[in-house]
Amino acid sequence: MISFENVTKQYLKSSVKAVDGLTLKVEAGELFGFIGPNGAGKTTTIKMLTGILRPTEGRVFVDGTDMASDPITAKRKLGFVPDGADLFDRLTGMEYLNFLGDMYGVSASDRKARMEKYLDLFELTDAVGGRIAGYSKGMRQKLATIGSLIHDPDVWVLDEPMMGLDPKASYELKEEMKRQCAQGKTVFFSTHVLDVAEKLCTRVALIHHGRLAAEGTIEALKNAEHAESLEQIFLELTEDGHQEEE
Ligand SMILES: Nc1ncnc2c1ncn2[C@@H]1O[C@H](COP(=O)(O)OP(=O)(O)OP(=O)(O)O)[C@@H](O)[C@H]1O
Ligand SMILES: [Mg+2]
Repeated sequence: MISFENVTKQYLKSSVKAVDGLTLKVEAGELFGFIGPNGAGKTTTIKMLTGILRPTEGRVFVDGTDMASDPITAKRKLGFVPDGADLFDRLTGMEYLNFLGDMYGVSASDRKARMEKYLDLFELTDAVGGRIAGYSKGMRQKLATIGSLIHDPDVWVLDEPMMGLDPKASYELKEEMKRQCAQGKTVFFSTHVLDVAEKLCTRVALIHHGRLAAEGTIEALKNAEHAESLEQIFLELTEDGHQEEE
C-alpha cells in the first residue's frame, strides 16, 4: 500500500511547486500507472515515495509506515528501479546484486534462488560476472530491475522501467509486474508508453504541472472524459489552454 497525503515539493531556489498537494492512495494488489508530460513531477513524486527527497509539505506512507518518521522500515518494504539506472561501474553485476542482498539482509538461499530466476528471465546470466562499466544501457536497466527484486519487496516502484529495454525484456518485465500484483504486492510505475499503461494498469493517475489532473480505472476515465483511449485523455487534459478546475 502507498499513500500520499497532501504532498508538495518545492525545490530550493525554485518559484514553482514540482509537486503540488498530491493526495493519492494505491492499495496492495494494484498495478498503478503514473503518467504525465515531461517535467510534470513524476520522478519528483517517486523520489519522495522512495525517501530520496523529503516533501516540503505532506506525508508519504509505505504499507502504513511514515517515510519521514521511520525511513528504514519504510525503505525495507520498497523495491526501486530509478530512471536511467546509474549503477556502480566498478562492480560486477554479481557484486552489485550481492551488495543489495547484504544491505537488505537477504539469506544466501533466497538470494541465490531470486538471482537465478531473474537473471534467467532477463537473460543476464552470462553478463553478470562482468563489470557494469561494460554493460549496455538495457543491461544496466535489467540489472537494476533484478536488484530491486532481490529482497522480495511488498511495494515495487519503477520510474520509466521500459526505457532502453528490448521487446523481449519489456514483455518479461510487464509479465513480472502482473505476477507481483497477483501475489498481492503493490506496483507503482511511471511511463510515457500509454498503450502499455492502458493494457496493464488497474488504475492510472495523470499528473500535470505537479497536480493530479485525473485518476481512476481506464474505463472510468474514458467515460468521464468521453474518450476512446488513454492517449486521447492525456492529450486533452495536458493541452495548453486546458483549464484545470481550481
Ligand atoms: N533537482 C532539481 N532541482 C530543481 N528543479 C527540479 C529538480 N528536479 C526536477 N526539477 C523540476 O521539477 C519539475 C518536475 O520534474 P520531474 O523530474 O519530477 O518530472 P517528470 O514528470 O519525471 O518528467 P519526465 O517525464 O521528463 O521524466 C520540473 O519542472 C523540473 O524542472
Ligand atoms: Mg521523470
